[in-house]
Amino acid sequence: MTEPAVLAKVIAHRGASGDAPENTLAAINLAHQSGATCVELDASISSDNIPFVHHDDSLDRCTSGSGYLCAHTAEELDSLTADSGWEQYKGEPLPRLQAAIALLTRLQMGLNLEIKPTPGLEEPTALAVCEIIRESWPIDLPLVLSSFSRESLAVARDTLPGAARALIVCAVPADWQHQTQLLQCRNLHTAAPLLTAEQAKNITEAGLGLYCFTVNKSAEAHALFDMGVHGVFSDYPQKLINELNIE
Ligand code: G3P
Ligand code: MG
Repeated sequence: MTEPAVLAKVIAHRGASGDAPENTLAAINLAHQSGATCVELDASISSDNIPFVHHDDSLDRCTSGSGYLCAHTAEELDSLTADSGWEQYKGEPLPRLQAAIALLTRLQMGLNLEIKPTPGLEEPTALAVCEIIRESWPIDLPLVLSSFSRESLAVARDTLPGAARALIVCAVPADWQHQTQLLQCRNLHTAAPLLTAEQAKNITEAGLGLYCFTVNKSAEAHALFDMGVHGVFSDYPQKLINELNIE
């Protein structure tokens, strides 16, 4: 029986992304100021295999660039802004994973790092992320590597077996237990609206950590905690932490 990999009851999703540009150092700083102890960030790689913190395959929605992130060198990506159009955060850079880790270390925050490969880059993305984590993540801070990509998780399992892993799903698949065992995952991260009470009971009784995305209303978080869910990813961590009286 495995032990859940504990993150926090409220995890700042892409940083405090409801009030600052997602997946930026500003969103991490704001999450910290909001009282969050842990953030979720997405990572993908440049054409020269350097991990950057970014959600989409394309640069268009959140940055000053365009096209596939994986088609650009790290040096090219370093010159982009990622303010997502937020006037008060104008010029906020697109961060390398290395820079996000340095900030989290300074702030003493935990991290759920979602490996977010562009399709076809499942292996190099996981390898590059694991290398940075091995070199830089402080051993005493909470860390979970998660992914929708089973291929990326298998690479992480084989490359960095000591780092806790989570399988991400939208709907919980019938073979969740087999998949999490195969990938040696300690957690299952799932879409909140699709989780049933019976699934939550079975998953937590199997010894897995259970975390749900994306939860921005405290009543929904409350109902999930009542079902045994260990924590939720929220774009508005401050609101949830305050409304739920989380220490
Ligand atoms: O890691 C949980 C959640 O972030 C997964 O979905 O699309 O927000 O990365 P997405
Ligand atoms: Mg994510």
